[in-house]
Amino acid sequence: SKELLNSAKREAARTAVDTYISNGQAVGIGSGSTIVYAVERLAERKKSENLDIVCIPTSFQAQELIINNGLTLTDLDRYPSLDVAIDGADEVDRNFVLIKGGGGCLTQEKIVATAAKTFIVIGDYTKDSSELGDRWKRGVPIEVIPMARIPVAAHIEKKLGGNAELRMAKSKMGPLVTDNGNFILDWKFNGSHDWASVHKFIKLIPGVVETGLFVDMASAVLLGMKDGSVKKIV
Ligand code: A5P
Repeated sequence: SKELLNSAKREAARTAVDTYISNGQAVGIGSGSTIVYAVERLAERKKSENLDIVCIPTSFQAQELIINNGLTLTDLDRYPSLDVAIDGADEVDRNFVLIKGGGGCLTQEKIVATAAKTFIVIGDYTKDSSELGDRWKRGVPIEVIPMARIPVAAHIEKKLGGNAELRMAKSKMGPLVTDNGNFILDWKFNGSHDWASVHKFIKLIPGVVETGLFVDMASAVLLGMKDGSVKKIV
């Protein structure tokens, strides 16, 4: 149920904040529905124990979350090296490869995660997968420069098969536009792949800004389980 899912997200988020965040840190704040609980916990700790941190957002949503929860907003100009970044994911496979970008924020998320010494992924039990695609059916999100979308999609389909579909806005009135003014292709793939080489192949196509494949990036993954526990995969 939705309630069970939300409490699983909440437990993972709170555990991550209490385990990995301490005074004086520069913290990357991810995007999505799970990160909301992490930011709420940071705000709680600011009130209860005067937790003093600065936050670097990965999206417009994250920036609003930081501001609305009374946390200190900063950026990579001031803090090019972060202690830790916390973020959700759409799917995590058994080799720790992530699909991200279900909300369209993959590029800034990857920049911030890469700038952090430690990258902590939080989610609920639905994110746990042995093979990418087992659970997440919406494909690999790829951020593209708008005028490149058709050749990029054709290139991917020719080499890797599947379908690279332009993501439409919720209103269905036109394409979804990212925080960076770009479009998203969702590459619906078949079968299993070597994700490191798939990422490299796609990333090198002119017009591709970033892929939602996060390979070898997560330091730890914390998943809230149905029974209320938090499963930590390191
Ligand atoms: C945003 O584009 C995504 O990468 C999110 O981090 C991801 O979709 C996780 O979101 P939820 O926490 O809502 O599942």
